[in-house]
Amino acid sequence: MEYKNFGTTGLKVSRLALGLGLRGQQSESEAKRMIERALELGINFIDCANIYGPMDDRANIGRSEVVLGQVLQGRRDDLVITTKVASQVGSGPNDRGLSRYHILREVERSLKRLNTDHIDIYLAHMYDESTPLEETVRAFDDLVRSGKVRYLACCNYAAWQVGRALWLADKLNAAAYAGVQNPYSLLNRNLEREMFGLVRDQGLGVMAYSPLAVGLLTGAYSLDQPPPQGSLWARRTDWDFAASTGGAAREVISTVVALAAELGKTPSQLALAWVLSQPEVSVAILGPDTISQVEENVGAVGWVLDATLKAKLDAVSSAFV
Ligand SMILES: NC(=O)c1ccc[n+]([C@@H]2O[C@H](COP(=O)([O-])OP(=O)(O)OC[C@H]3O[C@@H](n4cnc5c(N)ncnc54)[C@H](OP(=O)(O)O)[C@@H]3O)[C@@H](O)[C@H]2O)c1
Repeated sequence: MEYKNFGTTGLKVSRLALGLGLRGQQSESEAKRMIERALELGINFIDCANIYGPMDDRANIGRSEVVLGQVLQGRRDDLVITTKVASQVGSGPNDRGLSRYHILREVERSLKRLNTDHIDIYLAHMYDESTPLEETVRAFDDLVRSGKVRYLACCNYAAWQVGRALWLADKLNAAAYAGVQNPYSLLNRNLEREMFGLVRDQGLGVMAYSPLAVGLLTGAYSLDQPPPQGSLWARRTDWDFAASTGGAAREVISTVVALAAELGKTPSQLALAWVLSQPEVSVAILGPDTISQVEENVGAVGWVLDATLKAKLDAVSSAFV
């Protein structure tokens, strides 16, 4: 495994993080074994959220934190764990968002489920336009000062929203976001438009999520057939498989599969190596469901993506910037 400082902090994180979205895993004991295997392979960074649980099922909200809490026992101090706040956790008016009320309530619930006294990186899961930003910045600052949280970051913000939050934290002399977490892959390069410039300027860390475009870049799907029954894309009837794998996406996916075969790597390894080759990216967050997927994906580190190959992948995916 390779490790890198998270942005301009002193925190060292493995280039691959293990995400606990568990979209395709319903067995908690299997999920625990997968986490343990990832740790054996050198991953020290685990990404969680207060809403994550097996199979994207709302009935399982919070279960990923419970599973992680069980695995953490005896090795808490060697790992970097994240969790998140802001997503809907219930039907009440204060069951979502970034109000002081919601943040302070949810952090306690997360700490309890995780069975720990601190969170290494606490993330705003999304921007909350209904809460004054100062309220959020001050609530997060209190968590850092109290020792419950070590670092802060945000997910799914636009660059201007990150910039505004950094400016306000500076003005209030409050703890600021040390990094961002957004989708980034050969099929989604939006971060290159505005965010990477901000990241370089402000020294932020970047956690790239859905680095395999939620499985599309793994070579597991045939482009001329509907997704196999039981697969993630077959289950998610709200996602459009044909549109997501047609046109320019088809060209990207076919190129990744062909180049990976020439190189003797798997499509997942090549697609992940491309994400990690971007200097702004600190870590790619894996979303495996099985031990064999973790083992395969870890093969994305330990070798360097050749500049010619990188240029080919840059060119074929240019429609997705
Ligand atoms: N902050 C946010 O808003 C946010 C949003 C999304 C994700 N995330 C984080 O990022 C993590 C990863 O996101 P993601 O799940 O979208 O990532 P991803 O790696 O792009 O996609 C994961 C899916 O790819 C398939 N897969 C992974 N490795 C494979 C392999 N070697 N061979 C074949 N298929 C493979 C699996 O699908 P099958 O189940 O079909 O096998 C898996 O469910 C999440 O767990 C979460 O921690 C954060």
